[in-house]
Amino acid sequence: NTDKMRPASANDSRHWTTNAGAPVWNNISSLTVGERGPVLLEDYHLVEKLANFDRERIPERVVHARGAAAKGFFEVTHDISHLTCADFLRAPGVQTPVAVRFSTVIHERGSPETIRDPRGFAVKFYTREGNYDMVGNNMPVFFIRDGISFPDMVHALKPNPRNHIQEWWRIWDFFSHHPESCHMFTFLLDDVGIPLNYRHMPGFGVHTFKLLNQAGHEVYVKFHWIPKCGEKNLLDQEAEKVGGKNHSHATADLFEAIERGDFPEWTLCIQTLDPRDEDRFDFDPLDVTKVWPEDLFPLLPVGRMVLNVNPDNFHNDNESIAFAPAMIVPGIGYSEDKLLQTRIFSYPDTQRHRLGPNYLQLPINAPKCPFHNNHHDGAMNMVDRKEEVNYFPSRHDPAQHAQPYPQNSKALQGQRERKMIAKENNFSQAGSRWRSFDKARQERFVQRVGDALMADRVTPEVRRIWIGYWSQCDPQLGQHLARLLQQNSML
Ligand code: HEM
Repeated sequence: NTDKMRPASANDSRHWTTNAGAPVWNNISSLTVGERGPVLLEDYHLVEKLANFDRERIPERVVHARGAAAKGFFEVTHDISHLTCADFLRAPGVQTPVAVRFSTVIHERGSPETIRDPRGFAVKFYTREGNYDMVGNNMPVFFIRDGISFPDMVHALKPNPRNHIQEWWRIWDFFSHHPESCHMFTFLLDDVGIPLNYRHMPGFGVHTFKLLNQAGHEVYVKFHWIPKCGEKNLLDQEAEKVGGKNHSHATADLFEAIERGDFPEWTLCIQTLDPRDEDRFDFDPLDVTKVWPEDLFPLLPVGRMVLNVNPDNFHNDNESIAFAPAMIVPGIGYSEDKLLQTRIFSYPDTQRHRLGPNYLQLPINAPKCPFHNNHHDGAMNMVDRKEEVNYFPSRHDPAQHAQPYPQNSKALQGQRERKMIAKENNFSQAGSRWRSFDKARQERFVQRVGDALMADRVTPEVRRIWIGYWSQCDPQLGQHLARLLQQNSML
């Protein structure tokens, strides 16, 4: 299926040709009047060569522009068929091909991989029932809980539009209106803020999803990827050394590990929650700024993912791959989490812009199972359709509706409103996390927060707001910070 769609390779011919296949007898000298020029516009090969070159770049991703991809397989190791009817999870031993992309978030396509930034951890499962994308990060929580603030958040984190420099005063200013971000900052500004590379990095689905079994029974679920080679990170000075030598160290590490046969592997685990229990906690379990504590929600292993194939072509497998939390399969459902709901729209939308309306026909994105619908044509359509009936319903089209499968059955009711969630509980998990660090790690955290709060143009008002937030997370943490800022005459 995918091979049929692949255009003939430019390298099949033994001699040089134009894109249309006409022989090129000289690829070194332009066609000129006399040996010194000028150049003739009728040199079609020259014009085509430059025109292709001029268009080599597609827009980079608006976030997660810098990344590395690899392929491999996912294998079920534990039976969870009582929880989900997902075909690819049907029994231990079942294997499904996957494509994975790891990324940094904020900076450009060629930016250093030692930057303190969350990392993307996106997995595409090519199942027999369509592609399933698990589009996660290496940190289990997120900065904000409502997608309406996502564009503002990204603008604040990205470089200043005036000078193209990332500046803390803009970041602290924006997040001073979002105290729910404290928990995420206890990851970003902690020792885990710069992973050693992609292989030693955990992954988290972050959102709550649903698992639905054949009988229609639903549980809430969170996904975790645990690296088999252990989690490892870089301290600031180590990162400076690594990054000073090689700004692509994580891409190189992944590529080289796979080339030498040292295949990276992760265990997929789940945490589940009965929807009837969702009100029993002091936090909202669908709030992406919270974790589900592992003592209450133990991790259950489900399977393993092995990456054993390197991309053949960076542009096709990395730049053109398109992940979307919208891509689910029977047996998996969305939850009501409002951040997730906005992501369901945003990814396919940006991909239609970034890659074109037929981006799902690109070999890396196309399903590996048969597909059928009447969405067709448009720019760069590559599916060769033979049918005459492109409308529905029709007595001439033998394709039927798919068999119904269990659907999210939660009854919803409420007023139309724009509101915060009831249980914000912005500080307690952030505080417990800081208390769980040993003394040295607590100090490193305080120093990083302090340094960032002391950055140029952070106002005393914003500094005081943040000391207030961190004090609510933990009074001692607040005191340490206040002392640091006072010592430096910054309060
Ligand atoms: C990439 C939007 C939150 C993980 C992207 C892209 C957009 C986007 C537009 C670029 C996609 C592309 O060009 O192919 C949003 C919005 C969010 C949100 C609107 C919140 C409302 C999150 C969260 C996570 C996440 C919570 C982690 C759980 C990723 C990853 C990628 C990505 C891993 C890169 C995928 C790849 O490697 O191609 N996001 N995002 N995002 N996002 Fe988000």
